[in-house]
Amino acid sequence: MDEVRPRRRQVLHGLAVTLSAPGWGGCDTGTEPPVPPVSPPRREPTSSSAPSSPAGPPPVAAVADIPLGGGRVVDRPDGRKLLLVRPAEADVRGFDPTCPHQGCTVPPPVDGVITCPCHASQFDGPTGALRRGPATRGLTAVPVKVEGEHVVLA
Ligand code: FES
Repeated sequence: MDEVRPRRRQVLHGLAVTLSAPGWGGCDTGTEPPVPPVSPPRREPTSSSAPSSPAGPPPVAAVADIPLGGGRVVDRPDGRKLLLVRPAEADVRGFDPTCPHQGCTVPPPVDGVITCPCHASQFDGPTGALRRGPATRGLTAVPVKVEGEHVVLA
């Protein structure tokens, strides 16, 4: 009967061999392939300050980067320019900064007036309406909206 059952010493020896085999955290002989790192599970953003939903438009600017009473020219996702003006704390409006006279890019408003650097046409800062030519019409509005701390195309 003792010949069929493994002896205690044989069992312990077999267990030691098994535990020292690669993959069991035992001895490292340096010949085993490296074990790839385990990536942590992916997490969805949980911040309430996220600029928009994953399917929503990307932000074009942070509200805080647009001077109150002034404005800023930024790039749209398609590469075109966008003039953002901020007449009040949470009121941000967008315009195509291309002057309707001959196409120069107008700067942000100063003291409520946007003045074209090429031929001095003037536009109302908050509305983009024509104040003085040679342009014959105002700036073209580009719909934008404030989402949290960011401005997105509407
Ligand atoms: S291009 Fe703006 S006034 Fe001429």
